[in-house]
Amino acid sequence: MPSLTLKGLLTSTAVVALTACAQAGELPTPLEDNDYLHDGAPDPAVVELGRMLFFDPVLSGNRNISCGTCHDPGRGTGDELALSIGEGGEGFGADRRTGPGGVTGRVPRNAQPLYNIGARAYESLFHDGRLEPDPSRVFKSGFWSPAREHLPEGLDSPLAAQAMFPVLSPVEMAGHKGENPVATAVAEDRPQYAWKFLARRLSGIKEYQGMFEDAFGSGTISFVHVANALAAFQTVAFRSNGSPFEQSIRDGSFFRLSNAAWSGLDLFYGRAGCSGCHSGPLLTDHRFHAIAMPQTGPGKGHGADTSYWRASGFMDRLEDEGRFRVTFDEGDLFAFRTPSLLNVALTGPWGHSGAFDTLEAVVRHHLGPKKSLHSYGVARLPELGDVIEQTGEGSRLIFRSMNPARREAFDRRDSWVQSSAALRNRIAGANVLERVDLTDREIGQLLAFLQTLTDPDFRDRRDLVPARVPSGLTPQPPPHRGQ
Ligand code: HEC
Ligand code: HEC
Repeated sequence: MPSLTLKGLLTSTAVVALTACAQAGELPTPLEDNDYLHDGAPDPAVVELGRMLFFDPVLSGNRNISCGTCHDPGRGTGDELALSIGEGGEGFGADRRTGPGGVTGRVPRNAQPLYNIGARAYESLFHDGRLEPDPSRVFKSGFWSPAREHLPEGLDSPLAAQAMFPVLSPVEMAGHKGENPVATAVAEDRPQYAWKFLARRLSGIKEYQGMFEDAFGSGTISFVHVANALAAFQTVAFRSNGSPFEQSIRDGSFFRLSNAAWSGLDLFYGRAGCSGCHSGPLLTDHRFHAIAMPQTGPGKGHGADTSYWRASGFMDRLEDEGRFRVTFDEGDLFAFRTPSLLNVALTGPWGHSGAFDTLEAVVRHHLGPKKSLHSYGVARLPELGDVIEQTGEGSRLIFRSMNPARREAFDRRDSWVQSSAALRNRIAGANVLERVDLTDREIGQLLAFLQTLTDPDFRDRRDLVPARVPSGLTPQPPPHRGQ
């Protein structure tokens, strides 16, 4: 019986490989309760409050988008888009479109998945780690962050500190100057007023008053409470440790894995070198590496290159220099934080700007990064409808649709970096990932291994969306029918 022999042979290879990994101490041990914030068990009243806030559009300047719109538990805690359509959009997931009022632009990076985001190991947040603990307490908050000295004290964790920021982003949640007091405070670089205004908005809602009192023992609502509650909810809701891989390393039941997945595990922890960066229980080292990931979309506006500016008239510099924007250390140019691979099959599109829309494509990129960067075609970004821009008229602010010539120049920014050989060469020059030669069969095995990192209970967690939220607005995403 040849197939039996083959199977036996494969299995014994895998056992040898596994033993080698285990001996090298590389195979992780799964996370336990105390590896999570609040030892995995924050106060249920705080968690329930956080759940309401996470899905309630009331936290957005124009009351039209929630955290859950971009971090949808029915869509891998993302939005199925390479780059999110934030404030001014309508619809959900791949169907999200520009709303009738138009948008001012794209969200420049892919919405990060939130699985296990409550693990204590997450200290640097965002793709570039721009939110981090500051043990020397230069700022009273104890965190380095884009809000510098404005970030208040009392935030429980980096995850709580992160929650102060989406509400300040004009394209994500705040909206545009003049539309609402949150957006105006942001435009004037006074984030403390934006937070104060939102806290006051919540104080005017009786049901929230009661919930904050139950959660924090005080009826005085501050945005620090909001952030701590959002963090508590995310810690509990998105904790996911039930993948076949984790079950196997927990109890030694490796028979769960198919032969292909066994071989993939061997490659991942061996010759393919993946565990050099995707290490530990979350399959990330939480560090930053430049791997020549193609860039799609508008970038972050801090690069050195002015070619787009000169060609288009838009005062933008488009390359996203990643970690370098935070440290100004040349060694960090184009480096991004290694993503966790738990549930990675659910979190596409992949890469910091959503450049790849299949798992196979992003894995193949790793095997020959520079070649992949240079041969990358055109990104599949969600189409934008009306794009509006601010024009002054007397003392009033007016937003108008771009005229066709400006719109054409605006659209060119999405593929500018990839179409510039000079910019591609800068990204390629920073790459640290070595080429690896694998056969198609071996790539298939790696992919089979990555599939074993999916927790079956997390394929669809729409059940987390509440049927209603205290503001009376419709929760986003809308509650699942049959709830
Ligand atoms: C318009 C879409 C959008 C909305 C709305 C949004 N996010 Fe995000 N989120 C993103 C994007 C994009 C990133 C990555 C940003 C970056 O690296 O610059 C991100 C990153 C994060 C991270 C960091 C994850 C990590 O691994 O470091 C957390 C946590 C998070 N968001 C939580 C929230 C919460 C809480 C809210 C609501 C208060 C929210 N988000 C609203 C798109 C969104
Ligand atoms: C030098 C460190 C390093 C090594 C080695 C490495 N990766 Fe990565 N990987 C990264 C970084 C950094 C990113 C994110 C880069 C970005 O978005 O710009 C990433 C992204 C990914 C993603 C996309 C995840 C997401 O959520 O977007 C997958 C899948 C992945 N890696 C799998 C692998 C596999 C399989 C291997 C082995 C063949 C491997 N990686 C080797 C650093 C590494």
